[in-house]
Amino acid sequence: MANPRRFFVGGNWKMNGNKKELGDLIKSLNGAALDPKTEVVCGAPAIYIQYAREMLDPKIGVSAQNCYKVAKGAFTGEISPAMIKDCGANWVILGHSERRHVFGESDELISQKVEHALSENLGVIACIGEKLDEREAGITEQVVFQQTKAIAARVKDWEHVVLAYEPVWAIGTGKTATPQQAQEVHHTLRDWVKKNVSEDVANSLRIIYGGSVTGANCKELASQPDVDGFLVGGASLKPEFINIINARQ
Ligand code: 13P
Repeated sequence: MANPRRFFVGGNWKMNGNKKELGDLIKSLNGAALDPKTEVVCGAPAIYIQYAREMLDPKIGVSAQNCYKVAKGAFTGEISPAMIKDCGANWVILGHSERRHVFGESDELISQKVEHALSENLGVIACIGEKLDEREAGITEQVVFQQTKAIAARVKDWEHVVLAYEPVWAIGTGKTATPQQAQEVHHTLRDWVKKNVSEDVANSLRIIYGGSVTGANCKELASQPDVDGFLVGGASLKPEFINIINARQ
């Protein structure tokens, strides 16, 4: 059977750029020849979501980088999925390692956010990944299974979920996981989903890799059978993002 999973490349701009820089980046993306087989989504800073949506070609999706777990209320500084949708975006990144480890978000909070975002019809890029000491202690599987289990507990329909495996030691460090390391974890995650959710979901769920993905290393990573795309930080702000989108060509 042909691989049913459409290749997915997300750009996570994090807290970078301004209207000028992001506008220039968007113009270059709009004008580029992008593989139509790849689903492309750009994760804009909250304050630029509407700007990105208005500027980006409609074939490119827009994502928020975080949201809260309820629709509205007295939560100073937070944004809700309803607001994200109102500004024209259809996705949200949740559980990013920077949310987990800089801002102390727990598995429980992340899973509540995932549940609420899905109930509001946002697509969710749910992030998981082990820290360096956890990999060195040989507990990578245990860590990513625990994180996935917390998320899965509140997902009823997986159609609008993309799972992003981002080893923390690879994020922003230039130390990319080898294609074999990525494939090994992606395969074991798919197997976990098969055993704990269903075989259908395991076959259709996009599991994407993040952590120092570049134009130079994307092709070999993309050739791995269980690597269904990427979540790209630094390189998503550079012209090489186009090469990453086209990694399967
Ligand atoms: P880098 O690509 O900069 O390592 O960041 C990865 C990431 O955190 C994407 O969400």
